[in-house]
Amino acid sequence: MKRIAVFPGSFDPLTNGHVDIINRTLEHFDEVVVAVLANPAKRPLFSTEERKRLVAEQFGDHNEKIRIESFSGLLVDFVRQCGTTIIVRGLRAISDFDYEAQMALVNKKLDEGIETFFLMAREANSYVSSTLVKQIAPLGGDVSEMVPPVVAVALKEMFPVEKKK
Ligand code: PNS
Repeated sequence: MKRIAVFPGSFDPLTNGHVDIINRTLEHFDEVVVAVLANPAKRPLFSTEERKRLVAEQFGDHNEKIRIESFSGLLVDFVRQCGTTIIVRGLRAISDFDYEAQMALVNKKLDEGIETFFLMAREANSYVSSTLVKQIAPLGGDVSEMVPPVVAVALKEMFPVEKKK
């Protein structure tokens, strides 16, 4: 039986932290479904299609071990639709724990069969977050160590600002 894991998130935008978690998940599963949350109410910086495109460009359109989907509605329902019961999330620090534990417990309450697996972020990525990237990039700060090159290019196109001296 194919071992499938769903890695859900906003991916607004994809960071090096996400890339590392996806790569490490791929080592343990036959397929990883990168599930991009389509929630316009969250007012994302990048559209759902753009966020999917950036993940696809990073991992290659023809990587048969990765499926890139968008979803709306309950995550547990989407996970079942993918033919699995496994959610993967990355944990950076203790500060992530409350939110992640709450989500994992709620998802289990909604569907007892669902399991959330956590991977510890690499130390080098422990400070990296999409939220910080979105704060720094519009101000002309260098985010090249936080995001993959495809995302850095997309951010430069979106914010072609010169850093103030
Ligand atoms: O990258 P994020 O924003 O931390 O990801 C959060 C995400 C998308 C995993 C979470 O918001 C989610 O699962 N949303 C779907 C709605 C849902 O199922 N909510 C109940 C569980 S919190």
